Amino acid sequence: MKNINILAIESSCDETSASVISDGKILNNIVATQSVHEKYGGVVPELASRAHQQHLIPVVSEALLSSGLKAEDLSAVAVTRGPGLMGSLMVGLSFAKSYAYALGIPLIDVNHMQAHILAHYIDDPKPAFPFICLTVSGGHTQLVLVKSHLDMEVIGETLDDAVGEAFDKTAKLLGLPYPGGPMVDKLAAEGNPLAYTFPLSEMPGLNYSFSGIKTAVLYFLRDQLKNNEDFIKDNLADICASVQYTLIKMLMQKLKRATREHRISQVAIAGGVSANSGLRKELNSLAADLGWKVFIPKFEYCTDNAAMIAMAAHYKFLEGDFCGLDISPIAKMKI
Ligand code: KG4
Ligand code: ZN
Repeated sequence: MKNINILAIESSCDETSASVISDGKILNNIVATQSVHEKYGGVVPELASRAHQQHLIPVVSEALLSSGLKAEDLSAVAVTRGPGLMGSLMVGLSFAKSYAYALGIPLIDVNHMQAHILAHYIDDPKPAFPFICLTVSGGHTQLVLVKSHLDMEVIGETLDDAVGEAFDKTAKLLGLPYPGGPMVDKLAAEGNPLAYTFPLSEMPGLNYSFSGIKTAVLYFLRDQLKNNEDFIKDNLADICASVQYTLIKMLMQKLKRATREHRISQVAIAGGVSANSGLRKELNSLAADLGWKVFIPKFEYCTDNAAMIAMAAHYKFLEGDFCGLDISPIAKMKI
């Protein structure tokens, strides 16, 4: 029987990515990062769409070339349908539709958040079902009960900002370049997490709120700068460590509660913020204390990438779950 070869495309935010998967094995993961946003301190949607337009064909060509496969060997084309920036999604989806149409092969639409979770099935060890996944990115913070590859239920989520946004906005207040999350992480490693105290938000059930901490950091810095204009420069590592400590504490409080309420001890993290070294450390230490089995993806598969889209597409292909060529992107697509 012919192999299942899928070309997957990701263009939901500011990474243009393509990946080829063959019979469930990822052959490559080509990512073009858009540096154009750095000087604006955040992703500019219009510029992101234009950059996707420029990068997409070279990225797809590279993925196909390095896979050793020809276009005629492909069984399907997969693409992120949402959630994400409408213009960016549109570039990837329009290309994927045309490519599938030209090759006469099916199109598979993939939910970006589901794909972040399915990144855990790229390499071993793979979590068994059911497990709880804390998905933490620049746009989302969700606790997901994962019942099977394609059956997932959101059991808690942020009611305002995502935790990645809290990292990025803190970084911006500190004058660090975008995206600030990785910089805060690096600086935090050198600082004292208990140097300053920021309030923990109290949300009902398994939900989160991260908008308060951004305001708390803003007022805190404003007050400190009144007395010492070099406050940020002198205390950068301690500020980063203290904010990161607070954000991780909030994430872990609800994660612990979710595992108790659902009687599940298999825990995974996914999304860009799962690259955070403090979060990884805390998760491993909780695993030792509470007897959790913890799954943390490789760095490459934490931030946006097409390999995770390819993995999700593989499971959809096995189910015969294809879509028509008349679909549109869904900016706020739900799991
Ligand atoms: O999943 P992702 O690549 O894109 C979205 O779908 O949003 O996540 C990007 C987010 C950004 O907010 C970025 O600052 C954050 O992930 N991030 C980090 C780290 N690496 C990326 N946050 C904290 N620590 C990191 N090491
Ligand atoms: Zn993402």
